[in-house]
Amino acid sequence: MHNGFQPGPEHRFSFGLWTVGWQGVDPFGVATRGPLDMRYALERLTELGAWGVSFHDDDLIPFGSTDADRLRRVADLRSAVDETGISVSMVTTNLFSHPVFKDGALTANDRDIRRFALRKVLRNIDLAAELGAPTYVLWGGREGAESPLAKDVRAALDRYAEGLDLLCGYIREQGYDMRLAIEPKPNEPRGDILLPTIGHALAFITRLADGELVGVNPEVGHEQMAGMSVVHGYAQALWQGKLFHIDLNGQQGPRYDQDLRFGNGDLKSAFYLVDLLESAGYQGPRHFDFKPARTEDDEGVWAAAAGCMRNYLIMASRARELRADPEVAAALRRSRVPELALPTLEPGETLADLRAEPFDPEAAGARGMHYEYLDQLGMEHLLGAR
Ligand code: GCO
Ligand code: MN
Ligand code: MN
Repeated sequence: MHNGFQPGPEHRFSFGLWTVGWQGVDPFGVATRGPLDMRYALERLTELGAWGVSFHDDDLIPFGSTDADRLRRVADLRSAVDETGISVSMVTTNLFSHPVFKDGALTANDRDIRRFALRKVLRNIDLAAELGAPTYVLWGGREGAESPLAKDVRAALDRYAEGLDLLCGYIREQGYDMRLAIEPKPNEPRGDILLPTIGHALAFITRLADGELVGVNPEVGHEQMAGMSVVHGYAQALWQGKLFHIDLNGQQGPRYDQDLRFGNGDLKSAFYLVDLLESAGYQGPRHFDFKPARTEDDEGVWAAAAGCMRNYLIMASRARELRADPEVAAALRRSRVPELALPTLEPGETLADLRAEPFDPEAAGARGMHYEYLDQLGMEHLLGAR
């Protein structure tokens, strides 16, 4: 393999412990791989060039562990982090595996379960702060329903907002340097999940008491499951200053959540997403949330992790070449792409001036946009033909 795409800490690649640690359990089959030792995972990740790691509370400390066991496991993580030099880039809560969360956590109908869920999150936010994680993700996998009568959606959103308001208040009160990021997903494991897309989450955030502290953590595959454009969704989150964190992976259209290696799946979307992140100067972690296929052994797991980073770097390099190509620049001008950056009204111009302006819609409607040529140029860069 070509060696010019070597990941390093400067690229800020990070991985969920649960990604490389996925044992291959799916609804039809048992594990195909054994449990992954945390220290080994951190060592392999750093060796491969990753900079960060993220985890759910339960990835590190099994649900129901005693306090003593918890302390021991946290100490183990701390020493593995110190030894490898890896950063804890994000922490999140498992509010979906245990049966207690079968009807949701922050939006469970049962009030005692909502209270338990909040306790679980608060405790883990303390740990995240201790480990210096700047971002805390909330993925509401079980916040949803299969049947309309079962969930009062407006009440559920009230409770969701109440939960986030309480968490934001706690973060402020403790003086933690941490922001929350909501991860949208349309379905799976619930039939319908609340806050199903980036757009829903962004709109929800505007109703929070302290929305400044809350952004989004969009996952590539989740937007595609909903038939959404990943590039448009991420771009809007960037435009609103809300792209706090990202989950990169791959997906083939609307079907079950595939969590493919980044670059597998919809390659064109992946390429233009990298182009967007790089050209917009996205500063957060380049975080992968994927599942190494259950056909793989240990070697395959690390090949998949390395592939995620390598694909990102290859695409970033192709995107740079695309943006530096004078033919592309000329084609962009010919398609009048830069013209969109001009405000529609001149400074000082009035609506009366605008209304008095002569215009020939027939002539304007007859102008070609030359997008086919432009798109083909992009395609040739992506395919390595230029
Ligand atoms: C999924 C989700 C999860 C969440 C993770 C963070 O693939 O359904 O992405 O992996 O990202 O659990 O809470
Ligand atoms: Mn997913
Ligand atoms: Mn995810």
